[in-house]
Amino acid sequence: MSLRFSSHVLNLHSSKNQSLFNRFSSDFITKIQVSSIPYALPSSSVNSSELFKFSREKLNPITASTTPSVETVDSSSFRAKNPKEVNVLVVGSTGYIGKFVVKELINRGFNVIAVAREKSGIRGKNSKEDTLNELKGANVCISDVTNLDSLEKSLESLGVPIDVVVSCLASRSGGVKDSWKIDYEATRNSLVAGRNFGASHFVLLSAICVQKPLLEFQRAKLKFEAELMREAEENSGFSYSIVRPTAFFKSLGGQVELVKDGKPYVMFGDGKLCACKPISEPDLASFIADCVLGEDKINQVLPIGGPGKALTPLEQGEILFGLLGREPKFLKVPIGIMDFAIGVLDSLVKIFPSLEDAAEFGKIGRYYAAESMLILDPETGEYSAEKTPSYGKDTLEEFFERVLREGMAGQELGEQTIF
Ligand SMILES: NC(=O)c1ccc[n+]([C@@H]2O[C@H](COP(=O)([O-])OP(=O)(O)OC[C@H]3O[C@@H](n4cnc5c(N)ncnc54)[C@H](OP(=O)(O)O)[C@@H]3O)[C@@H](O)[C@H]2O)c1
Repeated sequence: MSLRFSSHVLNLHSSKNQSLFNRFSSDFITKIQVSSIPYALPSSSVNSSELFKFSREKLNPITASTTPSVETVDSSSFRAKNPKEVNVLVVGSTGYIGKFVVKELINRGFNVIAVAREKSGIRGKNSKEDTLNELKGANVCISDVTNLDSLEKSLESLGVPIDVVVSCLASRSGGVKDSWKIDYEATRNSLVAGRNFGASHFVLLSAICVQKPLLEFQRAKLKFEAELMREAEENSGFSYSIVRPTAFFKSLGGQVELVKDGKPYVMFGDGKLCACKPISEPDLASFIADCVLGEDKINQVLPIGGPGKALTPLEQGEILFGLLGREPKFLKVPIGIMDFAIGVLDSLVKIFPSLEDAAEFGKIGRYYAAESMLILDPETGEYSAEKTPSYGKDTLEEFFERVLREGMAGQELGEQTIF
């Protein structure tokens, strides 16, 4: 595909993106199975009353001096404890936000159990040693969140109860099958396993965009959110905090180095089709950590943005040119081009179902090119910057300055370049 475009969260300048449209060889059968039974789960875990049966007798707590045994834990009492006596299980601990959440929780004195894969990071580039190093201060538990049995076995071998689960899990590709596998099933495995090991609170990193669900990963997240809320409704000793942030810095930084090199800043329409209140990793991690003990965050859906006013792509470009001390140079791409590309892909999917993910990636790009990452006001049906809460202190301008100075290291996007 020769078209290269970019919105505030989509950067198709990158050569990585071209592979996105070239990944047309996925397994047809698997995709049919997944798209026709998107909620497919092991039959043993379908009945929710079975799901949340605690398996406390399996536990053999080893921190008895500071942590009461599971048998005697009052499920709502962890909020009264000192953080060092609170066991927090973090899944998705190796992700862009998860890493910062682990650090923040450790800094606040919690006893952190970080679940990670043998090879973590984008395309599994980090070895176990890298991961242990990155998550220093946490008890790293190498396990498989996509498999409930192995997750429970790993937790059992730790021999400690869990008080709180924090999930920063997300599909690394955003593809249809993987979204259901991670944003729904693996996240649900973490809830089930966490509950079975005593967890009475679950903090979920979700996304503000689920309020207008047009994409598969949003539907997967929403389905889990609904189950989480139901679990709290049915069990008075259990609570949740659902964090729905606006755009991350990494999603907005893709053009910084290109513009530095003299390229125009690319945006859709007039550059004002959408806006967001970008939030940094440390600020979001701090907000998520607040949700662990915060009584005001119990059973809440919490949309959250960074500090300052909402910024359109046009304003983001202006900030960037301002930092470079150059006259703004914009390339405005009609949004209709994306609609055309999506239309073509949708037609092709009917003939070549293996193009399903490519079509989905096109839709994701279209979504972020035109939809604001702000609260959608139900009264007006419009996005509202005023109603979108702000948190933290890091600004996009400071982030752009840093990328201009140091590059995008640590800000890499996922396995395709949309998230
Ligand atoms: N990008 C944005 O602007 C934005 C804005 C608002 C909300 N969000 C939401 O924020 C959430 C987190 O985003 P992020 O950027 O921190 O995610 P990320 O960097 O892609 O991290 C994903 C995490 O999930 C784990 N994971 C993925 N697939 C797995 C698998 N098959 N088995 C085991 N673990 C797996 C990863 O482990 P490995 O390291 O082992 O791969 C990693 O720890 C997402 O739900 C996203 O929708 C994003």
